[in-house]
Amino acid sequence: MSDPTPFKIIAVDGGAATGKSSTSRAIAERLGLMHVDTGAHYRTLTYALLQAGAQADQPDSIGPKLAALQLGTEIDGRSARLSINHSVPDDAHIRSPEVNANVSKFAAIEAVREFLFNYQRSQAQVAREHGAFNGLIMEGRDIGSVIFPNAEFRFFLFADEATRAARRAKDGQTDSIAERDKRDSQRKTAPLVCPAGATRVDTGPLPLEGVVDHLCALIEA
Ligand code: DC
Repeated sequence: MSDPTPFKIIAVDGGAATGKSSTSRAIAERLGLMHVDTGAHYRTLTYALLQAGAQADQPDSIGPKLAALQLGTEIDGRSARLSINHSVPDDAHIRSPEVNANVSKFAAIEAVREFLFNYQRSQAQVAREHGAFNGLIMEGRDIGSVIFPNAEFRFFLFADEATRAARRAKDGQTDSIAERDKRDSQRKTAPLVCPAGATRVDTGPLPLEGVVDHLCALIEA
């Protein structure tokens, strides 16, 4: 007999402020999945590295600083959050203007991406072993291309500039969306791309509910 609720892996990629987090969180609620925001991983690491005095323009100094960081996972409702040395930093810290301005620079450093690669892949096992989740939804820039290229469902979200700027302004955030996207798309390792074969979804014209309905219909079809 086939399993009525096979464990699903859903990859959601896209540029800054394209609606990845709200959409992924809502889908996790609806379908009973564990949600992982890998942008928050890079933000958390950026925050910890800045605290340790690291500078993104000196990538050679990063290795020893990374080695001092112990990664863990804390599950809060449907969200799995990255802890560093047994603590999850506050959202206010990882979404500060300083982190916004530095995160894509640290994310372009190969040692930083390598440091997170196995951790991010291991989240599928974390979700399975937890026992209460029907699968994993992971959002980021390289999830469908590098972390889970064989995921059953891979989506690439995009939206027009004005919509994205308005979303950040509504969140009260200072963020240089276009600059980050440029750096994220142009880096050598795991750049922001629409993975081959992924479903492209324009989130500009649709309210959140509409995007979630659309993706859930595709997943459940
Ligand atoms: O999703 P976000 O805007 O919070 O992501 C912050 C930064 O993290 C983004 O500018 C690039 C980086 N990032 C990445 O390089 N790879 C991912 N899978 C997720 C985020």
